[in-house]
Amino acid sequence: MERNLAVLMMVMAMMMSTSSASSLVTFIFGDSLTEVGNNNYLQLSLAKSNYPYYGIDFAGRKATGRFTNGRTIGDIISAKLGIPSPPPYLSLSPTNDAILKGVNYASGGAGILNDTGLYFIQRLSFDDQIKGFEKTKQWMKAKIGDEAANKLCNEAVYFIGIGSNDYVNNFLQPFLAAGQQYTHDEFVELLISTLSEQLLRLYQLGARKMVFHGLGPLGCIPSQRVKSSRRQCLSQVNQWVQQFNSKVNKLIANLNAHLPSSQLIFADTYQEVLDLIENPTAYGFKVSNTSCCNVDTKLGGLCLPNSKLCSNRSDYVFWDAFHPSDAANVVLAQHFFNTIFSNSPSPAPLPSS
Ligand SMILES: *[C@@H]1O[C@H](CO)[C@@H](O)[C@H](O)[C@H]1NC(C)=O
Ligand SMILES: *[C@@H]1O[C@H](CO)[C@@H](O)[C@H](O)[C@H]1NC(C)=O
Ligand SMILES: *[C@@H]1O[C@H](CO)[C@@H](O)[C@H](O)[C@H]1NC(C)=O
Repeated sequence: MERNLAVLMMVMAMMMSTSSASSLVTFIFGDSLTEVGNNNYLQLSLAKSNYPYYGIDFAGRKATGRFTNGRTIGDIISAKLGIPSPPPYLSLSPTNDAILKGVNYASGGAGILNDTGLYFIQRLSFDDQIKGFEKTKQWMKAKIGDEAANKLCNEAVYFIGIGSNDYVNNFLQPFLAAGQQYTHDEFVELLISTLSEQLLRLYQLGARKMVFHGLGPLGCIPSQRVKSSRRQCLSQVNQWVQQFNSKVNKLIANLNAHLPSSQLIFADTYQEVLDLIENPTAYGFKVSNTSCCNVDTKLGGLCLPNSKLCSNRSDYVFWDAFHPSDAANVVLAQHFFNTIFSNSPSPAPLPSS
């Protein structure tokens, strides 16, 4: 993990030096942890958050389609990089100049596997998101020419955070095929072989600098805790997630070794998120074992308009049964940055006075 973070630090430093911060272009792929409103454009999608109390702590108290009370980790990281948070892909038209400045393809309910989140009727699976990027690249070429579009795609940074739904809304839902059809060993192999093809496809489309966010301790989210009689974290689920993370780490090392000029990074924040959940008071929180919105159920778990909110949203690590609160996202994004910079080569010692 230390080595990973050192590599991550190097790439971030390189990002900062090759592009002035304001020209840094980012493409974001993922699920409800990073969605900024794509599902609002999918008429039949049941994975939506465009109603109160989502966004109650966002600018203008607006329910934009973010699955939290305020900002996503992606919003906070973009702000720290000095760039606007990229708009949802489905809000953009082919001639829109915004496509040259970064796009967010993330979609609530999405997974690595096409079938993941099937019961949400509509969502952009990771394959759909990659197809969307392919289309965006065609639009770019029409706007600025092939050479400039290729250069833009080579220099951009790709943030990818996906896989949680392949567990929470697929493997761990016993009435869906994957939970019954596969052992975990088989399931994780299927995830990794699918992900390998997907990352290769992004590479073929010009992606070089990719940051893959590993999964957090999913056994500790409120929707999983309710399955235990004493509301404990599900250790089996956490073991599976760590197995997935360790295999992604190996996959990424392998891709880096075989794809010329690729710079893929595996950002593992599992331990940091677990520490926040196990020691909430050390981070200024009071509660981490239930959601502010008080909607912990095995199914559902979104914060509906008739929910009763907690009295202080900053006291809770979890906003609903799946997603961190704005306050927790601030801590997680800050931690991400601190780790990067604390691992950077130490500055020259100050002259002694
Ligand atoms: C998943 O869906 C995409 C289309 O979005 C398709 O190209 C791909 O072949 C599908 N994969 C599988 C394993 O069915
Ligand atoms: C959460 O943990 C606290 C102790 O820290 C405990 O009093 C409370 O009952 C727990 N809540 C749930 C929903 O299990
Ligand atoms: C809410 O909780 C935060 C963090 O514990 C605290 O700083 C803030 O003062 C609280 N706000 C209110 C209105 O109690």
